[in-house]
Amino acid sequence: MYKFGSSVFLAVFTLSILLSLTHESSGKEVTRGPYLQSMTSNSVVVRWRTDDPMSSFVRYGSNPWNLDQSASSPGYHTDHVVQVSGLKSGTRYYYSVGSRNESLAGGNGKHFWTTAPQIGQRQPTRIWIIGDSGTANDNARMVYQAFRTWTRMRGADVWLMLGDNAYNTGTDAEYQKAVFDIYPEMLGQVPVWPTLGNHDGGSADSETQSGVYYDIFTLPTQGQAGGMPSGTEAYYSFDHGRVHFICLDSHDTNRDSNGAMAKWLEADLNETTADWIITFFHHPPYTKGSHNSDNPKDSGGRMVEMRENILPILEAGGVDLVFTGHSHSYERSFLVHGHYGFSDSLEKSMILNSGDGRISGDGAYQKETNKHVGTVYVVAGSSGKISGGSLDHPVNFASINELGSVALDIDGPTLKAKFINNEGSISDWFEMQK
Ligand SMILES: [Fe+2]
Repeated sequence: MYKFGSSVFLAVFTLSILLSLTHESSGKEVTRGPYLQSMTSNSVVVRWRTDDPMSSFVRYGSNPWNLDQSASSPGYHTDHVVQVSGLKSGTRYYYSVGSRNESLAGGNGKHFWTTAPQIGQRQPTRIWIIGDSGTANDNARMVYQAFRTWTRMRGADVWLMLGDNAYNTGTDAEYQKAVFDIYPEMLGQVPVWPTLGNHDGGSADSETQSGVYYDIFTLPTQGQAGGMPSGTEAYYSFDHGRVHFICLDSHDTNRDSNGAMAKWLEADLNETTADWIITFFHHPPYTKGSHNSDNPKDSGGRMVEMRENILPILEAGGVDLVFTGHSHSYERSFLVHGHYGFSDSLEKSMILNSGDGRISGDGAYQKETNKHVGTVYVVAGSSGKISGGSLDHPVNFASINELGSVALDIDGPTLKAKFINNEGSISDWFEMQK
């Protein structure tokens, strides 16, 4: 009898374990995200993945214990995409994601988004920028942790990824390891705006906007977040208060000066009235790191083409800062204008300010708002690995072979940039003023 009772107990125990395992693996798991996309002053796109198809619901509200509003999209999916609209600008909302019946992630103090300020409204803005981060290893983790330690409660408002976000060919499994498993907290709080790198291009095609990169990211094609409609996710622009961001595709889109991307870029720059214009793409116009922008054969000539064809448009349009990756180092230029050739053609007159650009040093780089002239170029491709190089391009003030990322703080007429290395030290910094 005793023996019988104990085996019944064992059977019931085993059955309950089996049931709970079945329960968990039958569509009750969030396996990716949630992550935020295409933030505007009144909307955000929330995305996540579940192991089984289910309905898509976002619950949100002004505190995590009272998510009294909801948004959904029709059908049953494993990859969930929900547009939340009708939000107040510059406002924090807490949220959870799940099905019609239950919330599966969020609903706590760690899951929130903050809508962008109204376009044109002045508001202090913090931007986090990582490049070539897709190594999925401790290098990437250290760079992430160093930034989080530095930024603490303030957090970032905008997050840029400069390409090669997932090695080696940008597959979905590689994106899981290099992006979703490395930055889960930040992905749930800060909208990420990517550009396509050559490694991401291994599993994506820009002309058809298809493949893993285009499946994972929801990017504005119709000017939904400000700027000129581009008609493609390969290149796009958006506004955050008085800052205008432009993403270009240097890898897989025509880089001619009369191509569709260049024409759109010109029109977009003509249209913007923002105080600050920041452009980002993958291939650096000036680098002597693991790639050499003086070699027309390096990277299929993409660096030379971007420099010769696209930089004149950017500079005529008053772009203040250009961020790229591809070389796995940090390289930062002086305030420059009009240098479109090889490095041996650099003339003194093209360097508008040969100082360090530091308020505490030679003084901040000054940009007169009516003339717009002067751009700083930053290669920030060391967020996942470092690869050295001669690191001596004459256009650059700083060339540093360290792991790290860039933090930008913009407040009215002042912009402050910092390169934060993997140990949390500020290895370079500069300021711009208007
Ligand atoms: Fe690259």
